[in-house]
Amino acid sequence: MKIARYTAYGGPETIAFQDAPIPTPGVGEVLIRIRAAPVTAGDARMRSGRVPRGLGMMLRLVIGLTRPRVAPGWAFAGEVAALGAGVTSFAPGQRVFGLTGFKGGAHGEYRVVKADGPLLPLPETLGFEEGAAFFFGGLTAAYFLIDRAGLTAGHRLLVAGATGSVGSAALQIGRHLGATVSATASPANHPLARSLGATEVTDYRKGPPPGPYDVILDVMGALGWPGALPLLAPGGRLALVTADLGQMLGSALRPRRDGRRFLTGTNPDTLAAMRRLLALHQAGGYTPVLGPVLPFAALAKAHAIADSFHKPGNLVVVMQPDG
Ligand SMILES: NC(=O)c1ccc[n+]([C@@H]2O[C@H](COP(=O)([O-])OP(=O)(O)OC[C@H]3O[C@@H](n4cnc5c(N)ncnc54)[C@H](OP(=O)(O)O)[C@@H]3O)[C@@H](O)[C@H]2O)c1
Repeated sequence: MKIARYTAYGGPETIAFQDAPIPTPGVGEVLIRIRAAPVTAGDARMRSGRVPRGLGMMLRLVIGLTRPRVAPGWAFAGEVAALGAGVTSFAPGQRVFGLTGFKGGAHGEYRVVKADGPLLPLPETLGFEEGAAFFFGGLTAAYFLIDRAGLTAGHRLLVAGATGSVGSAALQIGRHLGATVSATASPANHPLARSLGATEVTDYRKGPPPGPYDVILDVMGALGWPGALPLLAPGGRLALVTADLGQMLGSALRPRRDGRRFLTGTNPDTLAAMRRLLALHQAGGYTPVLGPVLPFAALAKAHAIADSFHKPGNLVVVMQPDG
């Protein structure tokens, strides 16, 4: 089978493919034939080492000083190819989707995962490409909007940077929860933002729609506290999805400012969070937006697109097309 690896921190040219034997599932494990996998902003950051200010050394201490020592690929959709001993919760041929998380390895044609890990049956309502696109932005948006900001019906929500992976999920979840949703996006993406639930959209280069807002989801951290403060209602919450070290420390040490709250964090990749997102999908509140779909062989090109932070929706590579 083919599997991708990173040869160094750097541009998309640092991605290489290698041949490896198809692994055998052990006790309690499942062999997945991967059909599609997302190429996310997180993949682009791990490969390039380009992270918000102050976090570069931390990233290198965790994933490798001289090159990323993780296997590329954070999530997948595919089929069960084989079962290890003792696995009864999945069946051969079953369509599934799941996370490899920080260990990676989803940018390959096969991957062994734990049966009781972050793995779920893929519902009939999702194809492999949508299944691959399902978790990255969706889990992040649900975590910040529901768990951190406590978004509820009647709230006024601004999603700044609203049509990428996180933003396109946040618009849908915000609307589903009964918030009034405003957005910023580049002009070409305004129709997409409106179709996902935004009632008002402006170009972020010109400034956001006037508030006040109960919750602001600042996807790229472009507003920051100074930009968000004048837009926040009393008691309002700013969720910075992209935050540098100073902002992370600030939100931990001084989370309340002028009666408003400032949130940063990283969403947990748990089975419970995955199930909640699936329940949102089944209730009509979330379906991942598919952007570019490329063959696995074009993984470097996919990384170049992800590097831009301007992709619409989710970017997916297809390992094995249908049929
Ligand atoms: N904290 C966490 O746990 C967590 C989890 C996931 C992702 N993230 C971070 O969240 C960020 C977004 O991830 P993503 O997957 O949604 O990325 P993405 O799919 O590349 O989308 C980026 C979005 O940001 C918009 N944008 C770009 N520059 C902007 C600016 N200056 N002002 C306002 N909006 C701007 C883009 O809009 P246009 O395309 O319209 O230009 C696009 O909608 C990344 O920095 C990622 O590392 C954090």
